[in-house]
Parts: sequence; structure tokens; C-alpha cells
Amino acid sequence: MIVTRSAEDVANDVLNRYRQRTPKSRKQHEIARQYLPSGDTRMATHYRPYPTYMVKGEGAWITDCDGNRYFDLLNNFTSLVHGHANPAIVEDAADQLMRGTVFGSATGPQVELAKLLIERIPGVDLLRFTNSGTEATMMMMRAARAYTGRDIIVKIDGGYHGAHDFVKVSVSADMENGNRPQARLEGRGVPDAVLNAVMVVPFNDLSYTESVLREHHQRIAALIVEPIPNSGGMIPPAPGYLRGLRELTERYDILLLLDEIVSLRVSSGGMQKIDGIAPDMTAVAKFIGGGFPIGAFGGKKAIMDHFDQDLYPDFIQHSGTFNGNNITMIAGLAAMRKLDQAAIDRINGLGQRLQDGINQICMGLGIRIRCLGYGSLQQIQWSDEPIVTLSDVRRANQDIGKSAELLHLEMLNRGLHSSTRCMFNISTPTQASDIDRALEAIEASLDTLRPYFREAAPRLLQ
Ligand SMILES: Cc1ncc(COP(=O)(O)O)c(C=O)c1O
Repeated sequence: MIVTRSAEDVANDVLNRYRQRTPKSRKQHEIARQYLPSGDTRMATHYRPYPTYMVKGEGAWITDCDGNRYFDLLNNFTSLVHGHANPAIVEDAADQLMRGTVFGSATGPQVELAKLLIERIPGVDLLRFTNSGTEATMMMMRAARAYTGRDIIVKIDGGYHGAHDFVKVSVSADMENGNRPQARLEGRGVPDAVLNAVMVVPFNDLSYTESVLREHHQRIAALIVEPIPNSGGMIPPAPGYLRGLRELTERYDILLLLDEIVSLRVSSGGMQKIDGIAPDMTAVAKFIGGGFPIGAFGGKKAIMDHFDQDLYPDFIQHSGTFNGNNITMIAGLAAMRKLDQAAIDRINGLGQRLQDGINQICMGLGIRIRCLGYGSLQQIQWSDEPIVTLSDVRRANQDIGKSAELLHLEMLNRGLHSSTRCMFNISTPTQASDIDRALEAIEASLDTLRPYFREAAPRLLQ
């Protein structure tokens, strides 16, 4: 007699094995909650029943406080392109640490990192550093308003550009208004007034975008877009989409702002280099700091010159106590020098190997899940239907019960560290054999969850 396990049995089994492996993490979390709301200082690292507390990283591997080892496919949300504790980065950063972190003065290392980035990124003639991607997009948008004298920024419905007020709009895509999404405030505490200065358009949709630009261009400063929307689902742009946005923004005299904070890694000069376009401004962050906090924004000289205190009495103001600090700049330089074309090609190839492998496994198991992404950036999608806009991604996440959180926990149980939305990115110390072992773990995880899918998410099975 075949005994079929219930969805509840499967979920309990996954959770029980998670708890058995991670008793010290549970204790740590109980203590953490006494001092930090929900035990942490960022939303993305929080999950139930409690998060695993990682204590050590080396190359592509990390260890938790219970001694379990994991192949790291998260790499602090794409910010560790060389994995953990890379010897060259550690050596350079430690050397600088001994000589001082920041002096409250102009310093040389930021010039070298700026030069390297400008040489690589087509749309950047001049740039400035910040301490996060959030500040980078905030300053880039402010610069666009100052330069054009207009207030409105058009953003992608479902696009994420950090935590500041003017991008806390429509971060979860609108599923009610078809291809005419309405701008909505995202989360509490953001003033209603923000909605006067932000409009939204769907990703990969040039025709509706054109209609918005045509109608409102006299009030629009810029359009901001992430070439491969990361938190939107890591879906690639349709062929010709970015080029189309470049043409439209030029036609209506609007600045094009690219958020390449995540996508910079797909080539030496990001997605803009692959697509052969030069945006007016670009924001970068994450791995360009070699594992330390960083952001940067830059663009055409005519725009960036407005930050020049010697050129413009009414220059655009930009400050930050740790902007351009020596440790980040030195570590960033080491990381960026190591990320040469061969390294980029290699991790892109490994990302493709992961994507192809997952898709073969899902087809073999008759599970309607797919992996989508670009190069070293990949994510599980809960549908095998075409996914074009960010509302498609959101729709695919519906009617699946706890499938995503259980897959994330089951992969942890099997030694794979990813984000709760099952996003993967590849670091340079990763070997093809790591990917192949990860595929075995993913196949076993999906097989374990199959009875759960059958009862709680039947549309995932053929
Ligand atoms: C596309 C994009 N823009 C901006 C940000 C914000 O960067 P940070 O977390 O460094 O503020 C992120 C962070 O995930 C991001 O993915």
C-alpha cells in the first residue's frame, strides 16, 4: 500500500529537521529578540521559525553557530562576488586598517576606485561614493531633479531601489490594473506627498511607458530602471527593452537612470555595456566595496559637474561621514581588480549551469517551477509560464501555500544557503562540482516537498 504523506506532515518534517540541526541559532534568536525588533536589523534576513546564525565564511562556504556548513548561494545578496574572506581583499584591507580607517580629509584610494569604475561603466564620466545603494539611488534621483528642474521620477512597478521614501512606492507589483499599474505607497510611514512625485510603469513594456512619457514629459525628470530587477524576481530584460527606454527618454528629453547595483556584475560594465547604451546616470553598490558597505552614483559630466563646489555656487549638496572611507575603497579596489573578464565569464557560465540544471530537474520531476535569470544571477519562479513583468512574478507566487519558505528551509537542511525567495548568485571561488552538488540537493528538496505541492499547491504539479 502506498502511503501518501499530507502537506502538514511534510511541513512538520522540514521544520523539525531544521530545529534539530540549529538549536544554538534558536537560542541566539531568543536573546536577539530582547534587544532588536524581530531579532535583527534588516527585513531580508528574517524568516520563520528563526534564522540560522552564521559565524564564519571562507570562499564559497559558510558555517553556522551549530557547526553546520553551507554552500553559499546568497553571498549577502550579491555583495560578495569573491565569496568570504578572500585572501587578497583581507590582506589589503588589514594593511589599511593598521594605518587608519578614515581621516576626515580628502584621500587617494577613492580616486583609484572611481577611476576603475569610470573606465568600466559606459555611462559614467564622473562619480561620487556613498555608504549604501539606498543613498546612491537617492542622490541620483535628487541630481536628476536638480539638473532638469522637474520633480517626477518614473519607476518600474515592482522595482526595488533601496529604502528611501521616494522609492518606497509600488515595490510589490500591482496585480489589479493590468498593464496600467497605479502607484501605491509601500509600507507604513512614507508620506502621501511622495505620490505626487513618482509614477509607475510595467517592466518590459515600452508602449505604455511611451504613453506616460508623452503625456507627462514636461513634469518628468527621469525614468529609473534596474536592468535585471533583483527583488522583483531576477528576470532578464526583453531584447531591445533597454535600448527602447534609451530612445524614448531621449525623444522626450528625460534622463535615463540605471540602477546597476546588482546587474553590474554581468559584464565588466554592467547590462548597459552588453546592450550598448549609455544612460545619463548609473547607481552601483554591493560587491564594488569588496564586502564593506558602499554605494556610488555617477553619470554624464554635464550632470555630475553640478556637485562641483568650485564650479557652481548653487552646487547639489552631498555629504556622508564615511563616504569614500579608506577601508571600503581599498577592499573595493582589490575586489574589482580581481573581477576581470575571465572571472565574469566563469561565474556567468556557472550561473547558466545552475539554471539549466534546475530546469532539467523540474521538467524531469514534472514540477511546474522554473529557474530564470541572467549569468551569475538566478532565481526560482513558481510557474513554468512566460514571466515578463514583475506582476507576473508576483502572480506566480500566489496559490503556492508555504512552498517557497519550505523549499528555502529544506535547502538549508541540505546545506544550501539562499534567500527566502530562493534567489541564487555565484561567487568566483565556486567550482562546477559545487553547482552539481547543489543541483542534487535541490532535486532532493523538491522531491521531499512533492506531497506538499500535491495537496497545498496542486498547480505546481503536471
Ligand atoms: C537594485 C537595488 N537597488 C538598491 C538597493 C539598495 O542597496 P543597499 O541595500 O546597499 O542600500 C538594492 C539592495 O538590495 C538593490 O538590489
